[in-house]
Amino acid sequence: MDKNITSQLKEKYEAIDQNLGVHLEGLLYSKPITYWDYIHTDALLNLQIQRTTLPDEMVFIGYHQINELIFKMILWEIKQVAECNTLNAVFFEDKIMRISRYFDMLTTSFNIMREGMDVEQYNKFRHTLTPASGFQSAQYRLIEFASTELINLIDIRFRETIDRNTPFEHALEHLYWQAAGKDYKTGKKSILLINFENRYKEEFITFMKVYQTKNLWSRFKELPKADQKDKDLVKAMRHLDYTVNIKWVMAHYNAAKHYILGKDGDGEATGGSNWQKYMLPKYQKRIFFPDLWTEKEKETWGTDI
Ligand code: HEM
Repeated sequence: MDKNITSQLKEKYEAIDQNLGVHLEGLLYSKPITYWDYIHTDALLNLQIQRTTLPDEMVFIGYHQINELIFKMILWEIKQVAECNTLNAVFFEDKIMRISRYFDMLTTSFNIMREGMDVEQYNKFRHTLTPASGFQSAQYRLIEFASTELINLIDIRFRETIDRNTPFEHALEHLYWQAAGKDYKTGKKSILLINFENRYKEEFITFMKVYQTKNLWSRFKELPKADQKDKDLVKAMRHLDYTVNIKWVMAHYNAAKHYILGKDGDGEATGGSNWQKYMLPKYQKRIFFPDLWTEKEKETWGTDI
């Protein structure tokens, strides 16, 4: 064995008061690694459990799970920007491009949802899913909290007037997505929203606090002024904003329209929202990096597609 490796191993184990000989002996009996042990394929491939006998429900479950895995990888990249002590334009752009590639993939693959299921089957199995909805994807919300300042996620109707230093709990009550399940006149929330908040509200508040100053937009504004003007970085940031908040949203909306307003659909969403208005970018006006867009671009947000 290479002497250098032996002495490095010795050093490593001495530092934690461990006997290298014992660890080397352990190696004698350790199992060789296989692909399936490492990737946990057996566990992964046993997580697609249908609620009905309709074959296309498998497409629905599989594609949602793929989305959740990709969301996890996106959060992984954002975390590295959030926690980096030596940020610069090159590192920032590299990470933004990685995140963009994931969102490009989610956007271009959305046809798997739109075309990949039989409309008649969808409108049968979806009845077993009420009152659940992709709306309840917690990772999707975490990506938003980690991408921008809370003010940019506040319902557009309150964005101008809400106190920017409002407590997190109050901010959460005014996030744009409350509109999917809250009657603002009575304050009454739908079961979709109640279930979601019962499960995740505390986690969201903690995450919101952590990312208040570490989100992508805040970190971008910490870069030296010259880096903030870096053409490639600005282009990458705009591409990401557009892909997440217009392209993905519209691909999703068009899939919803295809199934819910198709000949077997009844117009009702599983989560029960007024989805035809709620889901459109021109109403939500969710923009992660607002200063990178002109006033005109912001005004006409989501009307070009
Ligand atoms: C046939 C496929 C799909 C249909 C018909 C559909 C339909 C809907 C509808 C109508 C809503 C509004 C809330 C409600 O009342 O339920 C919604 C929200 C949502 N769905 Fe989907 N969806 C589909 C696929 C997906 C996929 C694959 C994902 C990926 C995880 C997803 C994630 C979301 C998210 C994150 C929201 C909340 C969006 C927001 O607050 O603006 N959906 N969906």
